[in-house]
Amino acid sequence: MFAELEITELDAPFAASITGVRLAGLEDDAAWAAIHAAWAAFPVLSFLNQPLSLDELEAITARFGPFGDDPYIEPVQDHPHVIEIRRDADETAPPFAADSWHSDWSFQDVPPAGTLLHGKVIPPQGGDTLFADATLAFEALCPEDQKELEGLRALHSAVLGYSTKGAFAADRHERSMKILVSEEAEVRHAHPMVRVHPVTGRKSLYISPVYTVGIEGMDDADAAEILGPLYLHMLKPEFQYRHKWQKDMLLLWDNRRVLHAATGGYDGHARLLHRTTIAGEPVIAA
Ligand code: SIN
Repeated sequence: MFAELEITELDAPFAASITGVRLAGLEDDAAWAAIHAAWAAFPVLSFLNQPLSLDELEAITARFGPFGDDPYIEPVQDHPHVIEIRRDADETAPPFAADSWHSDWSFQDVPPAGTLLHGKVIPPQGGDTLFADATLAFEALCPEDQKELEGLRALHSAVLGYSTKGAFAADRHERSMKILVSEEAEVRHAHPMVRVHPVTGRKSLYISPVYTVGIEGMDDADAAEILGPLYLHMLKPEFQYRHKWQKDMLLLWDNRRVLHAATGGYDGHARLLHRTTIAGEPVIAA
């Protein structure tokens, strides 16, 4: 029988750490229900001391739903749903997704609900992951601004990163991660700028500097006038959380509510994490 989960709030009201449970092989439905409830309350959840094989990581991911579709990064051999977030000790390429705030694959028609990231090799310093709560940011806006944004749809695409003209195509550094650029990345999908969480009913801003390329029906200059100040608002320190990694830590985050960005600061040290995504549902407009 499963013992009570211990849930400890971290340095932000939207992040928590769970102890008292071993996830690999966990079959107790009550424990999984408690973990799901914790995830609804804390969209960034970390689980300490979880040594996992790739099969176990996949089995844990399946507890949250079907796998998401992960384009543009070559998956681990024989594990088509797992990608490596990897940087070798002698690598000079900028860390993957460093300083690049985004919600995973928001350019997809149906973007992933969540992401799991498991620490295998963690550098002695640096390599933290930053999170920003887009629900708290939305709720802090005045009612007039909230109403105006609820009427807008943002255009999302992977063009800046993964197209044949994007940052990865232009990057001449040797990279241990195999990034697969494609013309497909130019495709745009419109999503409501304010989305409703399907579990909690709370509203979030759903835009990011990496994948939002405009606002439907607006020219680029007008869209930039709205998006620029909104990014500054969303990324204020009071909406942020800095996650520090440990080996065998599993992190689960909700792409419907938070943005994230990687950081550097570990040149000369290797960093390796395994990542899966959980399929989402069509974005619900406010
Ligand atoms: C990611 O964007 O999934 C990578 C985060 C990280 O490497 O810290």
